[in-house]
Amino acid sequence: MRCAKLLQNSIFRQYESFPVNDKKIAFLGGGNMASAMIGGLIKQGMLPNNILVVEPYGPTRDKLLQDFGIQAMTEPSSLLVTAGLIIWAVKPQVFKEASQQTCNFAPTALHFSVAAGIRSSSIAAWLRTDNVVRSMPNTPALIGKGMTALYARPAVTQAGKAWVERVVASMGEFLWLNEESHLDAVTAISGSGPAYVFYFLEAMTEAAVKMGLSAEQGRRLAISTFSGASELAHRSDEPLETLRQRVTSKGGTTYAALMSMEGDAIKPHFIKAMQAAELRAKELGDEFGK
Ligand SMILES: NC(=O)c1ccc[n+]([C@@H]2O[C@H](COP(=O)([O-])OP(=O)(O)OC[C@H]3O[C@@H](n4cnc5c(N)ncnc54)[C@H](OP(=O)(O)O)[C@@H]3O)[C@@H](O)[C@H]2O)c1
Repeated sequence: MRCAKLLQNSIFRQYESFPVNDKKIAFLGGGNMASAMIGGLIKQGMLPNNILVVEPYGPTRDKLLQDFGIQAMTEPSSLLVTAGLIIWAVKPQVFKEASQQTCNFAPTALHFSVAAGIRSSSIAAWLRTDNVVRSMPNTPALIGKGMTALYARPAVTQAGKAWVERVVASMGEFLWLNEESHLDAVTAISGSGPAYVFYFLEAMTEAAVKMGLSAEQGRRLAISTFSGASELAHRSDEPLETLRQRVTSKGGTTYAALMSMEGDAIKPHFIKAMQAAELRAKELGDEFGK
């Protein structure tokens, strides 16, 4: 794994010499994830007329025009031949069908998929090319705070990877994986992770209300505690355990809460829950690949 965290501050400087308008980029699917990436590319200086989008849904096409000045196509056409990079941002259920409509128009492109669960071997077979990068982003990508894990099939060149990095950096952090099977673990940790955070935020808010605070006060306290503690961990090289111990004096209030959680075996149960997510990711990969 190569973590891009340290690169983050310098990422755009690093890519300054990378010609953002050198080749066109096409998006299959113009929904949420595509919009997050298109917004990032335009911010980096990419011209809207170098971005092609295939989007069958009228209101979503209208939004692309309104937000970015991009006139999306209703279906794949020979215009896609001009795209060096094709980004797959459709729902997993429609990927296979969309690839069948597209593969003839994209014989030499690099394909980059953000679709959950679809294995790169399926994508390679459907599109008849090994030039494929598969990823697993998460929802904070929509506000530039995402975490995306990437896996490239061996045929992808360094230049191809750099191009994908440039697109992904606009959605937040990223890391490369050497083994594609690890994307199931990534799905369980960071892909589904925002839902676990919301779940704990809900619990903290409910606890606050039980203790007499308003729901709004509880929400603010919970959210800002999560983001503050996360930022603290982000900026620190110390083990998470040390950070936790530093706010847990023996016999104190935090200690009482943590002892209660230990007594209820919250941590092993939480780990078990993520293992269930990993198993489901594997099952979905088998289903979608058929
Ligand atoms: N949102 C996230 O945070 C997140 C996180 C991880 C992974 N992902 C993955 O990212 C992908 C996109 O997610 P999203 O949230 O951006 O979904 P979305 O907003 O629903 O966008 C997908 C778009 O693709 C369009 N589409 C459907 N069939 C198509 C076709 N044959 N050709 C071209 N476009 C087609 C859809 O139109 P219709 O509405 O008409 O179907 C929709 O506008 C999914 O595979 C998802 O698993 C998303």
